[in-house]
Amino acid sequence: MMRVLILMGSPRLHGNTAELCRPFIEELEAGGAEVRYVTLADKDIAPCRGCYACQQVGGEYGCVQKDDMYAVVEDILRSDLIVLATPIYEWYCTAQMKNMLDRHYGLNKFYGSAEGSLWAGKKVAIIATHGYPGAYATDPFEEGIRRLCRHSRLEYAGLYSVRDTDNLASFRTAEAVEGARAFARKLLEPGRQGH
Ligand SMILES: Cc1cc2nc3c(=O)[nH]c(=O)nc-3n(C[C@H](O)[C@H](O)[C@H](O)COP(=O)(O)O)c2cc1C
Repeated sequence: MMRVLILMGSPRLHGNTAELCRPFIEELEAGGAEVRYVTLADKDIAPCRGCYACQQVGGEYGCVQKDDMYAVVEDILRSDLIVLATPIYEWYCTAQMKNMLDRHYGLNKFYGSAEGSLWAGKKVAIIATHGYPGAYATDPFEEGIRRLCRHSRLEYAGLYSVRDTDNLASFRTAEAVEGARAFARKLLEPGRQGH
């Protein structure tokens, strides 16, 4: 059974990105996955302070900021697949998601006396919504996550995105919904290689 963690980064908890996640989650669950859906905007996750204290702490996350990121880290460590679900804001993810991404630092011990990775080998996928068309909107964020995956020895498993042309209605079309379901089925395929 695949354990999937969806981290939803929009400040609109019932907006476009949340809407696109609905059929995606339904299909994952229909395929036998255990899904945990976590919204970031209502959590207390401070920005990384760049203190590098986490890099001296072996075998555990080790961040000095004891906020809700600890619960997210627990969820990450329990999951096989992490889905970053975000609207595109200024060609990248939202600030809420960026704070979370920066705060992953203690999962990699690459820059201090501690060594190793706590999350190597996990899969990462992206669900995005955006106002501009397709790859023009999503390429910078996707490339950033691709590089993060390579750097952290995670397996990048792909992106599904839909353009916002009519607010929520854009994400309720048969094409958008079936695309989300197809993406879920693709991610559940056994032994699928990332790209
Ligand atoms: C502050 C802000 C910045 C945005 N920047 C972009 C952008 O760079 N590229 C883009 O395609 N859409 C951009 N958008 C549009 C949103 O990505 C789009 O409306 C999205 O579907 C909103 O999702 P949500 O309802 O889940 O928040 C931006 C929207 C806001 C509010």
